[in-house]
Amino acid sequence: MDVRVSTRDVQQFDGDAVAVGIFSDDAEPQGPAAALDEAMAGVIAGLQASGEITGVADEVTLLHTLGKIEPARVAVIGLGPRSRFTVDRVRRASAIACRQLRKAGAQRVGLALAGAESGVNLAQAARAATEGALLGLYEFRLYKTPKQEGQTNGNGGGSGDGKRIESLTILGRGREPALRAAVERGQILAEASNFARDLGNEPPNVLTPTELANRARAMAHEVGLECEIFGPDRMRELGMGALLGVAQGSAEEPRFIILRHRGGPKSEPGLALVGKGITFDTGGISIKPAADMDAMKMDMCGGAAVIGAMMAIGRLKPAVNVTGIVPTTENMPGGKAFRPGDILRAANGKTIEIVNTDAEGRLVLADGVSWAVKQGYAPIVDAATLTGACVIALGHVRAGLFSYDEGLTRTIQTAAETAGEKVWPMPMDAEYDEQIRSEIADVKQTGGRPAGAITAAKVIGNFAGDVPWAHLDIAGVNAKDRRDAELDKGATGFGVRTFVELATLLSERSNGKG
Ligand code: BES
Ligand code: ZN
Ligand code: ZN
Repeated sequence: MDVRVSTRDVQQFDGDAVAVGIFSDDAEPQGPAAALDEAMAGVIAGLQASGEITGVADEVTLLHTLGKIEPARVAVIGLGPRSRFTVDRVRRASAIACRQLRKAGAQRVGLALAGAESGVNLAQAARAATEGALLGLYEFRLYKTPKQEGQTNGNGGGSGDGKRIESLTILGRGREPALRAAVERGQILAEASNFARDLGNEPPNVLTPTELANRARAMAHEVGLECEIFGPDRMRELGMGALLGVAQGSAEEPRFIILRHRGGPKSEPGLALVGKGITFDTGGISIKPAADMDAMKMDMCGGAAVIGAMMAIGRLKPAVNVTGIVPTTENMPGGKAFRPGDILRAANGKTIEIVNTDAEGRLVLADGVSWAVKQGYAPIVDAATLTGACVIALGHVRAGLFSYDEGLTRTIQTAAETAGEKVWPMPMDAEYDEQIRSEIADVKQTGGRPAGAITAAKVIGNFAGDVPWAHLDIAGVNAKDRRDAELDKGATGFGVRTFVELATLLSERSNGKG
């Protein structure tokens, strides 16, 4: 989709449809809504007076303009009370407006941003509006055969009935270069999130470890990242016994994907992002129940977040070195599968006593993080759909954030806040270590049911040595089971935007701006 910026008055917009917001505590239209209202002979104010438009959050009122202004339709979006207006609300309102206007057949859509009196910075609003539009319009329909000949299935920006918004204009009364930069950043972040969502939504027979690596490589060439991919031979040379152990039960070969952005000095290895890339998790010999096992095609969403973040980083080119690492395999119960009771040796030489082959994520990350440590990267941040326990702890609202490093925790919290993704710090007390002590190996793979998300994080932490490290457990937030305002059912791309903001923060700091 073509995304533009205009600093002209909203009533001069010459597309098919335009969206404006209304606050629930305003008695009459303000800002761009007031300008449109005047051009349309008071129809918005009238509906507000009669109580048909209340401005409560997520309310949509579609008006026909009957030739009074150029756009045939105006969407009036409820923004809730002014006191609770945030950048997140802008993202949500934009998504709702765009979906409604696409449904109505609009192809050239304008989004009018509230003025500075709304309390939200105009550039931030412009960025969030762009993100909301592109995230909200995304649908995964690659495998739906179009109903009519000549119709596309609308994958990406279209809808199932072939309707498609061709151009989006962000209308704001501010400095044009600043608005343009904000919109461009929003577009890059949203497109990268949608790329990660595509990877998550692809079926597991298509998105094998080999295919995931191929897509990462193709993306790398497109945006100018370096890409290196290890197969099983190289993994054996490097002693990646944990990743190879998980891969043993599958007929599909594992891959170790490395994506590099070189934006900083050679002397600083820089940030490593490591993502769990299990393209299908049956549980292995400790097999999962049949119900909902299909959702385990998304067990590579941590890896997808890393690949998506690297896509945006390749485009934005922050002045810092960033390496994306994705150990990827299936977890299958084949005749050669690893067993509970096995002892595996990771790339840093540490041994792991296997208790349950369904706890495979921490194993592939043990090798991913060990390799990152060996290369000298710091900090190291991983993302993984790691534990059901994290879903129990935080539900589908926030990702768990685990780290021994307070400074890194704060930086990631800041990055997540800027990104509009929710995380929550979890405790990492030494007392929990007892649960993963092994009698016969260096570490036990699982620590039982109590604090299952924490002990899982701690297993990975064992492989980070003294390097500042953090872990995001995204098992509760990587997918939605039904459509929400911004996001369709399916993969969410969670983590992409936080990782990009983290790289940006680190680049600003190393260049004395932060
Ligand atoms: N991929 C799962 C975790 C998961 C569960 C992700 C639900 C998304 C939704 C992971 O590999 C797993 O199976 N973990 C086990 C660990 C247990 C055996 C210690 C779990 O959480 O039950
Ligand atoms: Zn598992
Ligand atoms: Zn898993």
